[in-house]
Amino acid sequence: MRLSVPEDPEPGLPARFPRRDFLALAGRGALWATLGAALVALGRFLGFAPAAPPVTFTLEAPAAYPSGVFTPVADGRAFIGRDGRGLYAIVATCTHLGCLVQARRGDFECPCHGSRFDSSGAVIQGPAQRPLVRAELALDGQGHVVLNLSREVGTDFRL
Ligand code: FES
Repeated sequence: MRLSVPEDPEPGLPARFPRRDFLALAGRGALWATLGAALVALGRFLGFAPAAPPVTFTLEAPAAYPSGVFTPVADGRAFIGRDGRGLYAIVATCTHLGCLVQARRGDFECPCHGSRFDSSGAVIQGPAQRPLVRAELALDGQGHVVLNLSREVGTDFRL
């Protein structure tokens, strides 16, 4: 279909875009958007969906994680802390809307909307309402720490 632009009736005034041409263009746009969404759904159905990010990470030996600091691991998706009872993992996903929190001088701060969490992950300042999640740690056969982000543990858990 050809888009026609009528001649400018008066020099200096903007050219008009006929309603029929606008509706035809909008209709074609909607058709292509629907076709694209259908192709994405078909790709997912056939198994071409992008791989889910990993949830388990083999880390260093426990001695690599000192007390008094939070060591970022798993591409910044968690922090390893240590206290007198052992190692623990705090998941970095903010419980407000899912941004990754950053460790700051013994606590955590979310760069998106300013939520703050103390060293145990409890909320100091909103808008987040829930504490940061703890994830399971284990040791593999070689003595490396294994972090499993898909397994939530209580605040009492230590490795
Ligand atoms: S996502 Fe962290 S405060 Fe909103």
